[in-house]
Amino acid sequence: MAAFGTVFMPQMIQARFSDNAWSETSVVPSDKIELHPGAHVLHYSSTCFEGLKAFRHEDGSIYLFRMDANIARMKQSSALLSLPAFDDAMLKGMIIDIVRQFADETPLPPGSMYIRPTHIGTEAAIGKAAVPSLSSLLYVLLSPVGDYFAGGSTALRILLEENGMRCAPHMGMVKSGGNYASALAPISAAREKYQADQILFCPGGDVQETGAANFILIDGNEIITKALDSTFLHGVTRHSILTIAKDLGMTVTERNFTVDELLERSAKPGTEAALSGTAAVLTPVGTFIHNDKEYKVGNGEAGPTTMRLRQALNDIQWGKAADTHGWLTKV
Ligand code: COI
Repeated sequence: MAAFGTVFMPQMIQARFSDNAWSETSVVPSDKIELHPGAHVLHYSSTCFEGLKAFRHEDGSIYLFRMDANIARMKQSSALLSLPAFDDAMLKGMIIDIVRQFADETPLPPGSMYIRPTHIGTEAAIGKAAVPSLSSLLYVLLSPVGDYFAGGSTALRILLEENGMRCAPHMGMVKSGGNYASALAPISAAREKYQADQILFCPGGDVQETGAANFILIDGNEIITKALDSTFLHGVTRHSILTIAKDLGMTVTERNFTVDELLERSAKPGTEAALSGTAAVLTPVGTFIHNDKEYKVGNGEAGPTTMRLRQALNDIQWGKAADTHGWLTKV
C-alpha cells in the first residue's frame, strides 16, 4: 500500500470566505489550488487542519467517526489563529457531501478514508503580520489509508526529548501546520541518530506528546496521561481511548508526570506505553531512548492492554461493537 496520505481522491470540496461572507460550497479538482504568492498563509502560517476517518461497515455502509469533535476542534483552531469563523453545519455538510461522493472508494477495514479539512488565510497582504487575513479557503481532501506507521502495530522506538519543545506552549492545542513543521528537524535527527520512529517532547521533564500523536502510559489497570492544557493537542482519539478504558473498568488518571517517573514505571514488567491519534490509532511503544541509553517498556513488545484498547476502538469504528457513545455518523 502507498505511504499514508500520499494518494488523494481526484476531487475535494471547498468554500471561500471574502467580503465577510462564505461562498456556496463547490466540488473541484483536488490536485491544485490557486494562491497569490503573497497569501497570508504562505507568510504568517494562518493555517489549521483536522484529521478524521470514514469507515466501511460489513454491510457496505459508511460511517464517520467523531465528526462533531473534530469540527469543534477546527473551529477552536481557526479562532485561535484569527481565521474567519464558520458554522458547524457548513463543514459538516462539506464532509458528508465529499465522503458520500467517494463512498465506493472507502477501503475495507483495516483501511479507512482519511478526511483532511484544511483552513487557510488567502488574503494577499504581506504587510499583515499582525492583522488577520480577511479572506480564507476551507477545503476537505480525502485520502484512502492504511496504517500510519510503516510497521503497523509493531512496537515503536521513541526518543525522549527534555531540551526541546514541540511548539510554543500556548499553541500546542491548535492543530496548525507550524506546530508540525517546528518538530520536523528534531524528529529527522532522532531518526538518523537513533533510528527512532518519533520524539516524545518532554520539556523540562514534563511528558507531553510526540510529533504526530498523543502519549499514554499504561501501568496495570491504570492509564496515566498528561492533563489537558494549552501545551499539547487535545486528541479526539486520546479522549476516545480514555472513555473506552473507563468503560472497560480501567482507572484513568490525567495529570502531569515526569520522564523520571515514566522510565521508573516503564521498567516494571507489564507496563505499556502507546501513541494515540487519528492516524496512529493506538500504536504501542517498545523502547524509549534517553540520554543515549535504551530502555525497554515492559518486555519491549506490543502490550496486551494496548492491543485490547485498539481493538475496542476499531470494533466501534468498524461497526462490530455497539456505538454506546454516539460517535458514528452514517453518511
Ligand atoms: C492525525 O492523526 O490525524 C494527524 O493529523 C497527525 C498527522 C501527523 C497525520
